[in-house]
Amino acid sequence: MSQRILVTGGAGYIGSHTCLALLQAGFSVVVVDNLSNSNREALRRVEQLSSRTISFYQADIRDKSALQAIFATEQPDAVIHFAGAKAVGESVAKPLFYYDNNVNASGVLLAVMQQFNVGTIVFSSSATVYGDPVSVPIREDFTLQPTNPYGRSKLMVEQMLADLVVAAPQFSAVILRYFNPVGAHESGRIGEDPNGIPNNLMPFISQVAVGRRPELAVFGNDYPTTDGTGVRDYIHVCDLADGHVKALQQFFNSGGCHIFNLGTGSGVSVLQMLNAFAAASAKPIPYRIAPRRPGDIAACYADATLANQQLHWRATRDLEAMVHDSWRWQQQNPQGYTGTDQQADLL
Ligand code: NAD
Ligand code: WQD
Repeated sequence: MSQRILVTGGAGYIGSHTCLALLQAGFSVVVVDNLSNSNREALRRVEQLSSRTISFYQADIRDKSALQAIFATEQPDAVIHFAGAKAVGESVAKPLFYYDNNVNASGVLLAVMQQFNVGTIVFSSSATVYGDPVSVPIREDFTLQPTNPYGRSKLMVEQMLADLVVAAPQFSAVILRYFNPVGAHESGRIGEDPNGIPNNLMPFISQVAVGRRPELAVFGNDYPTTDGTGVRDYIHVCDLADGHVKALQQFFNSGGCHIFNLGTGSGVSVLQMLNAFAAASAKPIPYRIAPRRPGDIAACYADATLANQQLHWRATRDLEAMVHDSWRWQQQNPQGYTGTDQQADLL
């Protein structure tokens, strides 16, 4: 019988792509999501793409009794834990919400996992735990000094997992530190659908290209980088999804706490991204140079050697695939999941 994976936050951007990868790799999938930042439609499309079904529960993972009931019914073999809030600026304004929804929620989930003897978790961490690195590329053993409540909430969960495997050596935790996830499934059926004004570069650029916003503000062109704009390690969301499948395959019930950067290992500047997107969409992307965004760093990219060696994973999709796939998703779903395409599905 196939292994049954409980995916928290599975209706979200990275979660939905990972559910598809899991189903295509032969796993069964149970999703628990409160839909606070996602749309049920994403999972319907994952079901269509995979010709498989997902057991879906609309529930908040802080609700212990709801989670206990789901574990009792579904009896998962392992958990992939995406659920959480992820906006850096919002975390500065609402720190208590971030510590509750990211840290306390993870505590509830881990307690229920222990109660039901589920011994493997893959956790979504972030390159943000490194803060402003002393040098690039960033290795997993670099100093961890997040600069905002969101980053600190991720680091606290990492520490919780590290402590748990000491107390329960048979428990297996894989911590994946994502760099900058972008792109969409090549079908154009699932992708990133941010609420309101996007905080992140790629969804902002694609909304400019599709005509939803007039121009991109480039936050600073005086950084010590090739063209003065910020440099990041953008990684295709489907490569990220594959990393989760590899993590389960390599570390299922293996014991210990394993930490990996998931990035491509190369940096791309804001202007390079903008030009790649303009080429893929054959649209000019109007932009203006704006002041630096507070808290931003000049350059951040991964040393992904460890994931390559121990997870047998590497990113295979290049920048061209990232921008083409983002553009396909944006064009086919100009208003995201709540737009006309969903209406078309209903006809
Ligand atoms: P997302 O917001 O699209 O997905 C998160 C999902 O969790 C959403 O579907 C949301 O409804 C759900 N959720 C939130 N709180 C919940 C709760 N208490 N109970 C149940 N469901 C809840 O975000 P994403 O980009 O897919 O990110 C997934 C994970 O990866 C997050 O933990 C995020 O912090 C982490 N991460 C994201 C990025 C990024 O840039 N996208 C980078 C590094 C790490
Ligand atoms: C990328 C570059 C901006 C928007 C954030 C979180 C991080 C992780 C990923 C969750 C920077 C520039 C952006 C715009 C711009 N999330 N930019 N104009 O800041 O590297 O990382 O998302 O874990 O924790 O901090 O990503 O996409 O916001 O910015 O010029 O309108 O694009 O200054 O150089 P960031 P980003």
